[in-house]
Amino acid sequence: MKKVLIIGATSAIAEATARLFAKRGDKLFLLARNTEKLTVIARDLKVRGAKEVFTGSFDALDMEAHAGLLDSAIAQMEGIDTVLIAHGTLPDQKNCEASAAETLSAMNINALSVISLLTHLGNVFEKQGAGSIAVISSVAGDRGRQSNYVYGAAKGTVSIFLQGLRHRLCKAGVHVLTVKPGFVDTPMTAEFPKGPLWAQPDQIASAIFKALEKKKSVIYTPGFWALIMLIVRLVPNWIFHKTKL
Ligand SMILES: NC(=O)c1ccc[n+]([C@@H]2O[C@H](COP(=O)([O-])OP(=O)(O)OC[C@H]3O[C@@H](n4cnc5c(N)ncnc54)[C@H](OP(=O)(O)O)[C@@H]3O)[C@@H](O)[C@H]2O)c1
Repeated sequence: MKKVLIIGATSAIAEATARLFAKRGDKLFLLARNTEKLTVIARDLKVRGAKEVFTGSFDALDMEAHAGLLDSAIAQMEGIDTVLIAHGTLPDQKNCEASAAETLSAMNINALSVISLLTHLGNVFEKQGAGSIAVISSVAGDRGRQSNYVYGAAKGTVSIFLQGLRHRLCKAGVHVLTVKPGFVDTPMTAEFPKGPLWAQPDQIASAIFKALEKKKSVIYTPGFWALIMLIVRLVPNWIFHKTKL
């Protein structure tokens, strides 16, 4: 039994992952903005085998409240073994291009709020000298592309932050996992036409669960995205700039 904190617990990927924690009989603390939806999810996870399920209201943008919320969640669970940070939004790239406010708002939710949480959690985990910190970043953070570079910049920021945090915390015996999903069929991407590259939340959840058990550092999920992104990163600018990616 592990004590697991899930931030952004109403996300489809987070919910699917929480089901795997529940099946293992874990004690869960779920933080999310939509508390009505959260109550339904919490009840379901209890039925699925979670030892105990606590819930709390969380607005990622209320960063002053982060430290207090995290401390209170950890106190109620009487400790913490694992945290999964999952909240995020997919900003409209064109709106961001037209408005600095839109761009900064997208960076706040997808990058700065995560960094705020990680700064506090990093100290908590370093002090206890054990545990796993997992964050859902994205393949979009691997290279800036014209079609979604605001989201990509936020996720890239998170990925680099995690890289440094991992370097620091490995000395304390703390595991830091960066999750880089490709296209996933969730409410965030409801309006996109789906194709063969698309995965379901359950697939991503299973990859996260396994990567936590094996203490992996970075995963691309599904795994074929590692090859796709290797190619995307390697394509020279003179070719890349001719694409509409
Ligand atoms: N779907 C994809 O293709 C894909 C690909 C790569 C990475 N990701 C990442 O995967 C993670 C999970 O997303 P998902 O695909 O599972 O989408 P989702 O089901 O739409 O989940 C997004 C979650 O973020 C929460 N959220 C948004 N703004 C928030 C705020 N200000 N405060 C608190 N919570 C907030 C939403 O809460 P509400 O329920 O209150 O709106 C929702 O629970 C995200 O970080 C996303 O960037 C997704």
